[in-house]
Amino acid sequence: MASVLVLNGPNLNLLGQRQPEVYGHTTLADIQAACTAHAATLGIGVTFVQSNHEGVLIDAIHAAKGVHGGLLINAGAYTHTSIALMDAVASVELPMVEVHLSNIHAREAFRHTSYLARVALGQICGFGQRGYLMALDALADRLAPA
Ligand code: DQA
Repeated sequence: MASVLVLNGPNLNLLGQRQPEVYGHTTLADIQAACTAHAATLGIGVTFVQSNHEGVLIDAIHAAKGVHGGLLINAGAYTHTSIALMDAVASVELPMVEVHLSNIHAREAFRHTSYLARVALGQICGFGQRGYLMALDALADRLAPA
């Protein structure tokens, strides 16, 4: 079955407790459950990885090649800083959709820049958990053969 690697970066393990006025009360486990259920309706699988460490995220992207057909990435703050993550996505040549729970363009100026956007099919932000499901919809018919 074709599958998507859903990659979550630093501090997203704290969703539900972390700044709920910005990120809501949904936990990462809630998002994983919603993605798994939604992916099943699309006939695809999902694998979830969360790490607070840039190198672990890069290794997961490398390991996705030939295993997963696409990437859904919420890189948290690394979105705005990590050329290395951008290069990793470009290196594996897998379709990738960038997701953020909050509308990064309506927040501080330093969040307006995304290195990942340069290598993404598109960016979905501002819709909370629903953004992950929208990204799965967008990826479903673009997946690379594993
Ligand atoms: C985030 C937005 C980032 O700017 C922030 O650093 C995060 C979460 C989001 O999902 O809205 O950690 O990626």
